[in-house]
Amino acid sequence: KRKVIIDCDPGIDDSLAILLAVNSPELEILGITTCSGNVEAEMGAKNALKTLQICSSLNIPVYKGEEKPLKRDLVTAQDTHGEDGIGENFYEDVTEYKIKENGVDFIIDTLKNNKDVSIIALGPLTNIAKAIMKDKKVFDNLDEFVSMGGAFRIHGNCSPVAEFNYWVDPHAADYVYKNLSRKIHMVGLDVTRKIVLTPNIIEFINRLDKDISKYITDITRFYIDFHWEQEGIIGCVINDPLAVAYFIDRSICSGFESYVEVVEDGIAMGQSVVDEFNFYKNDNNAVVLTDVDEKKFMYMFLKRLFKGYEE
Ligand code: BDR
Ligand code: CA
Repeated sequence: KRKVIIDCDPGIDDSLAILLAVNSPELEILGITTCSGNVEAEMGAKNALKTLQICSSLNIPVYKGEEKPLKRDLVTAQDTHGEDGIGENFYEDVTEYKIKENGVDFIIDTLKNNKDVSIIALGPLTNIAKAIMKDKKVFDNLDEFVSMGGAFRIHGNCSPVAEFNYWVDPHAADYVYKNLSRKIHMVGLDVTRKIVLTPNIIEFINRLDKDISKYITDITRFYIDFHWEQEGIIGCVINDPLAVAYFIDRSICSGFESYVEVVEDGIAMGQSVVDEFNFYKNDNNAVVLTDVDEKKFMYMFLKRLFKGYEE
């Protein structure tokens, strides 16, 4: 099993990513950390617990991390994910389990005590930037780093050029790209925009009639309405589970190595600039994913969440 920390901001698609990770036998999830992004870090931690409750995995600890981006004021995405961050179902808090504090220290301590931990980051990179600032050395123990974020040849979802996670905390994103001692696997909008949960799939999920069918249907309803109203799309783009799937099976996405920086200010704030042709002669710090086998992803997702549906 590969040891992982999932750093996230649940978030509807973060919740789906957690469901996929928990149902993946290749992974040992040492903990979930949250930072502010789609919603504030505290609410995100509550939502992570809710998802863990749904899949009977409350043994996985949830740590609240940074509540504010490094420099910018926080801008949440409650218009997209709902006031409660998971589709305005307003579930009761999971009271039998406590949110732990100090997500950044958890990341540092976990890296200190293990030699082979990977991080799958599904939100802004605030926790990761802070952890590197506090103890850069422990990142020598990091195995791999996958980040859902950024956009290369595709328009942004927050500005003409910026993707949400990097736009919310561009200073953290840029800091991590410049200071992490591992190549960042950038699972950006180029690949995630192709992962759409359609009404057909939702109908299919409901016919399977498992405990999580209702949860998935409930939390995605608001998101589906948002996609229709804002973009005229039927169904919803689910970004974050692709990062988990790619971590498990490299053949799901492909791309190329390059040098990447994130723009910190101005109209291009949050843009991930990919120096594809190496104009600046920097060492590659990223693997930029550009192609995705969306069918392979969807098959993995459904097969794992609804074990044995083929039978
Ligand atoms: C990213 O932004 C968030 O709204 C999603 O959870 C995902 O991590 C997509 O841009
Ligand atoms: Ca997210």
